[in-house]
Amino acid sequence: MAEPIKVAVAGHRGKVGSVLAAAFQIEPGIDYVGGITHGDDLAAFLHEKRPRALVDFTRPAEAMHNALAAVAAGAAPVVGTTGLSGADVDKLETACKAKHVGGIVAPNFAIGAVLMMHLADIAAPHFDAVEVIEMHHAAKLDAPSGTALSTARRLAARRKDRPFTHKKAEKETLAGTRGGEEGGVAVHSVRLPGFVADQEVIFGLPGQTLTIAHRTTTREAYVPGVLLAIRKVTSAPRFYRGLDELLGLRVD
Ligand SMILES: NC(=O)c1ccc[n+]([C@@H]2O[C@H](COP(=O)([O-])OP(=O)(O)OC[C@H]3O[C@@H](n4cnc5c(N)ncnc54)[C@H](OP(=O)(O)O)[C@@H]3O)[C@@H](O)[C@H]2O)c1
Repeated sequence: MAEPIKVAVAGHRGKVGSVLAAAFQIEPGIDYVGGITHGDDLAAFLHEKRPRALVDFTRPAEAMHNALAAVAAGAAPVVGTTGLSGADVDKLETACKAKHVGGIVAPNFAIGAVLMMHLADIAAPHFDAVEVIEMHHAAKLDAPSGTALSTARRLAARRKDRPFTHKKAEKETLAGTRGGEEGGVAVHSVRLPGFVADQEVIFGLPGQTLTIAHRTTTREAYVPGVLLAIRKVTSAPRFYRGLDELLGLRVD
């Protein structure tokens, strides 16, 4: 039988990190070696615990430092923290390649959310108008969500020859009611207690609409995607941007 994969979590006391740490402790084939938080000595921790993967759900300013330290110690970074720049991800990929370790940076580890975006990509050529509504917990700092913005950009990219039509109100009696706009796609953000992270993509044509909806009820939504990523990046030294490729999703 294969050795269990030693895994550590940076941000293990956070909202997502704590759910992952609990899940890893009961997951067959995973040996959870512990977590680190703000102010801990990461290099000493990595040297002592020798994880094969370091899962990071911290803060954008911290995630790069943690991921590069993981690579230097021979551990594959599995980064869920959002807000890394393209240049950061390039730098991490270069570091992983130089050390022959795998790695992944994925702005969304919820498999249903990744599929929602993929299904929206498929529908995009067939509808002339689409709007995105995202609903998140009230503590979320930014709007729209990274997933909503990325959905709108992907949708717009599928319609380069025939851009989506965004119908503006002739008279907007309450400013902002028609939402933000990205590439002809209206984006609306709801912030309320009770939500975790939901999104609907609504396509319209005369006489019909198509709604693709993803609902997150708890942060356990991230566990299967993170486990899939851990298994992949520790089995071969490959670097992934997003879960799409791991799920075998491609749209030509
Ligand atoms: N990819 C995805 O699917 C996905 C899903 C949900 C969230 N996210 C992202 O994941 C990140 C964390 O989200 P969250 O809701 O779990 O936030 P959170 O509850 O604030 O958790 C972040 C945790 O990281 C800790 N931390 C800060 N600096 C650290 C460091 N240098 N090393 C280790 N731990 C450190 C914090 O500790 P202190 O409070 O003591 O500073 C806190 O416990 C955010 O960027 C969020 O956007 C990604």
